[in-house]
Amino acid sequence: MQDCVIRVSELNKTFGAKQVLFDLSLDIARGEMVALIGSSGSGKSTLLRHLSGLTRADHPKQDESGHIHVMGDVIQQHGRLSRNVRRHRSKIGYVFQQFNLVGRLSVMENVLLGHLGRIPRWRGACRLFSESEKKAAMTSLTRVGMAEFCDRRASTLSGGQQQRVAIARALTQRAEVILADEPIASLDPESAKNVMDILADINATDKTTVLVSLHQIDYAREYCPRTVALKKGRIHYNGATHSLCDSRLAQIYGAEVAEIVTPLHGDPATFVRQMAMA
Ligand SMILES: Nc1ncnc2c1ncn2[C@@H]1O[C@H](COP(=O)(O)OP(=O)(O)O)[C@@H](O)[C@H]1O
Ligand SMILES: [Mg+2]
Repeated sequence: MQDCVIRVSELNKTFGAKQVLFDLSLDIARGEMVALIGSSGSGKSTLLRHLSGLTRADHPKQDESGHIHVMGDVIQQHGRLSRNVRRHRSKIGYVFQQFNLVGRLSVMENVLLGHLGRIPRWRGACRLFSESEKKAAMTSLTRVGMAEFCDRRASTLSGGQQQRVAIARALTQRAEVILADEPIASLDPESAKNVMDILADINATDKTTVLVSLHQIDYAREYCPRTVALKKGRIHYNGATHSLCDSRLAQIYGAEVAEIVTPLHGDPATFVRQMAMA
């Protein structure tokens, strides 16, 4: 694939006796916005965590397996993290379902943390930021519509506001890739749309590559040209989102489709039967 920024080759992951990812390979090109869908427990978070080296893959049997690179940097291979994983990670913005802000710090201080990967550790530890770093943080906050909240304690914000601040932190980090793990799963529909609009704008305007895991297909259909559908640790679909119709989803997920297609009226078994006949 041309200008591939995320490459996963034959990734396997086992927790204890339970294998949760199976020979998973995936390429994502620069500037794509890709949805990763799947019901709860399908392995979305585990895959995303491998991409930024938060989790190590199994030791492989073959040379090429368990190899992950992002932006040309090897994040991990052969079950070992790169020695420079922290530096590589500074190019990857990570957005979590539960926002991961430091609640006792102000909004501005949280966004300034986005600079940590680029400045000397002692400056970060003392929270000494230059005027231009503060200005960059403010620009990011303005972009997500949160500038007026800069002095507020993060813990006092609503979920949607916290998620926008988390995205401002990734912008301040100047992340070239954003991995968003169910960023809207804890939000009301209006905040969810707002957060997805912001991610789509960052993708379209800055050409930042976005891989976003989602519980529901509706948002993938609205925002992501490509969808990767995971089920029990395997990719069952990887292609254009518009071709992933409800009947195809029902074929892939069976009764679990109720988690992915919403709103689903009536009982899932009836839906699956109807879809199978469609
Ligand atoms: N740290 C862990 N220890 C043991 N099992 C885990 C761990 N993390 C995830 N799992 C298991 O891996 C599977 C996939 O989980 P996860 O990646 O969180 O799925 P998803 O994000 O799609 O809901 C689940 O069965 C989960 O219980
Ligand atoms: Mg998850």
